[in-house]
Amino acid sequence: MELNIIKESVEYVKSRLNFEPEIGVILGSGLGDMADTLEERVVIKYSEVPNLPVSTVHGHAGQFVVGKLGNKKVIMMQGRFHFYEGHKMNVLALPIYIMKYIGVKSLIVTNACGGANTSFVPGDLMIIKDHINFAGSNPLIGKNEEEIGPRFPDMSTAYDKEYIQLAKEVGTTLNMDLKEGTYMMFTGPTYETPAEVRMARILGADAVGMSTVPEVIAARHCGLRVLGISCITNMAAGILDQPLNHEEVIETSTKVKSKFISLVNDIIQKI
Ligand code: HPA
Repeated sequence: MELNIIKESVEYVKSRLNFEPEIGVILGSGLGDMADTLEERVVIKYSEVPNLPVSTVHGHAGQFVVGKLGNKKVIMMQGRFHFYEGHKMNVLALPIYIMKYIGVKSLIVTNACGGANTSFVPGDLMIIKDHINFAGSNPLIGKNEEEIGPRFPDMSTAYDKEYIQLAKEVGTTLNMDLKEGTYMMFTGPTYETPAEVRMARILGADAVGMSTVPEVIAARHCGLRVLGISCITNMAAGILDQPLNHEEVIETSTKVKSKFISLVNDIIQKI
């Protein structure tokens, strides 16, 4: 992503704000309501921001919501861009760079995903400790902008160890049995086959999904500290003898929503 394109988007978003958010949050399927809890809200539709594409997924609002949560200044993405919508991967990096250049230091990424680890149950929340990029692409492919970050970013601690510890502590305080595991990204939009899910498990994945990895790569490229939390909305294909569908995903994430929101909220207060 070229710097002048990023700067143009950043200038627009900055012009709409009278403070600098320090924490970014990407709200996954079903979690979008969390943005409604912000105070002194400023809503910026993606369609208003120069260079951002229009998000096409049903049930995703497609806007930044900026505001205060307690005394923390945050910017939330209500709806995100997916590779399966047909965007080039580097487009998925743009909202992350926008957040970086308006002052964000930490990024909390959430998603809905399928459980590949057979000890999980739908409704579980999983702290992401690592990921496998199985999408066959990378948002950093293309010319590198040295001002943003290095050509070959280190991914050995993509998910911040201190944030993982913090999330666990908050989980304990809230009496939640949080899982921890590796997230593997498939492009979608098909759900995986049972054979793909078996492969994912053999390769060390605990959860499979269609997002998050490009955003985390971009975030690490530009030096943001990252925390990832997944909602296991369903067991991945082939684990249970039943078909998968988007309705089930939405149903589970809606059920878990208030728990998920209080976890993310309490973590934000302690970041
Ligand atoms: N696979 C991929 N993405 C998903 C799933 C799944 O089982 N559930 C929710 N998002």
